[in-house]
Amino acid sequence: MDLRIFGQRRDRFLEKLDGKAAVIPAASLVTHHADCEYPFRQNSDFWYLTGFDEPEAVALFLPHRPVGEQYVLFVLPKEPAIEVWNGFRWGTEGAVSIFGADISHPLNELHKRLPYYLKGAEGIAFRVGKHQKIEPLVLQVWAEQLDRLPRNGQGATSVVAPCPFLHSLRLRKDSWEVDRLREAARISSEAHELARTTACPGMSERELQAVIEHYFLSQGARGPAYSSIVAGGENACVLHYTSNSSLLLDGDLLLIDAGCSLSDYYNGDITRTFPINGRFSGEQKDLYELVLEAQLAALEAVEPGNNAEAVHMTAVKVLVEGLVELRLLRGNVDSLIEQGAYRHFYMHRTGHWLGLDVHDVGAYRLGEFPVELEPGMVLTVEPGIYVSDRLPVPEGQPSIQDRWKGIGIRIEDDVLVTNTGNDVLTTGAAKSVNEIQQ
Ligand code: GLY
Ligand code: MN
Ligand code: MN
Repeated sequence: MDLRIFGQRRDRFLEKLDGKAAVIPAASLVTHHADCEYPFRQNSDFWYLTGFDEPEAVALFLPHRPVGEQYVLFVLPKEPAIEVWNGFRWGTEGAVSIFGADISHPLNELHKRLPYYLKGAEGIAFRVGKHQKIEPLVLQVWAEQLDRLPRNGQGATSVVAPCPFLHSLRLRKDSWEVDRLREAARISSEAHELARTTACPGMSERELQAVIEHYFLSQGARGPAYSSIVAGGENACVLHYTSNSSLLLDGDLLLIDAGCSLSDYYNGDITRTFPINGRFSGEQKDLYELVLEAQLAALEAVEPGNNAEAVHMTAVKVLVEGLVELRLLRGNVDSLIEQGAYRHFYMHRTGHWLGLDVHDVGAYRLGEFPVELEPGMVLTVEPGIYVSDRLPVPEGQPSIQDRWKGIGIRIEDDVLVTNTGNDVLTTGAAKSVNEIQQ
């Protein structure tokens, strides 16, 4: 990996901080049970600025300090007796020589050195409420500055969230990031194709999960970006179904929502739905074609100057029109949309930003104004229809005939906004009825 990318990001971030110091902690290890931990997952903000993949570290960004002292990294020090159990650490030497820190200290010196580094900053950018261990230290330093403020007139007068500065940078992907998202999309699409061509009645959902996740790992990805959803039949109507514990039945659809996370944390997020035996029933095909039509219309709407809300409403309009035609809804399309009378079939949004986080950072609205799509933004487009008995049918709407029940369909692609429109990154996973029924 070219670590200069992280230096360029730090330069932009330091500029945006405009005299405020930022404290950005790494993630901590999290206990799974007893003395076993979950696999380590770095904090995406910290990763974006440092490329440093160890737990517990803390990065300081200090635009008020002279050049050459503006990026300070506190890290777990090298300690052979611990590394022999838990693996290699870069230590303070590696933090400087490999990861480009101006200065690095062992983590246990943070409390002693933080007052010195934060002195003279116009404000402190720190995300309150997320970093249990570091927050008391930051607030303590700030409180001491405030105590002295009346006497020496110096000190940060505010603690602000770093998110607005940092997340507006993360929302707009540069060409290097787009390449990484393309790679995540490639691996994820190929895994979906493998799953579709492997699936058959009698297999278990978990076996297919293994096929997908084996492929992720075999292609060099870190693993799944989120808990893979492999949902046969009615299980597809549970949006976050992750137990993957049923057998696949002849005649059912299978919904798979899975994507890989690369070694540098860029993610894919794809959903495909197909018949387990390779042939759609009449009702399955009617609803599948409707979701596909809504998805294609919503994809069409992804272009610079449009916004995520408009993309969502495009999908909603097509879905509601189709549901009225199929007599699953009754009434005037605009009124049904206004009343939300379709939400027992379609209860989620049509997409989200995608990047280092699967539900990536970045605002969708600024006050009353929707954020306009710009080249370099990446989002998912993922309409669906879920027919089950879980939600009540709204008053005045037709009750649902049994032949529709248990059908859950979602189609999800990852999409880059380009200068002229969009580029779908996940075309490698088939979604047309013809391709699926071949
Ligand atoms: N896989 C999570 C989502 O589609 O948003
Ligand atoms: Mn998604
Ligand atoms: Mn998904």
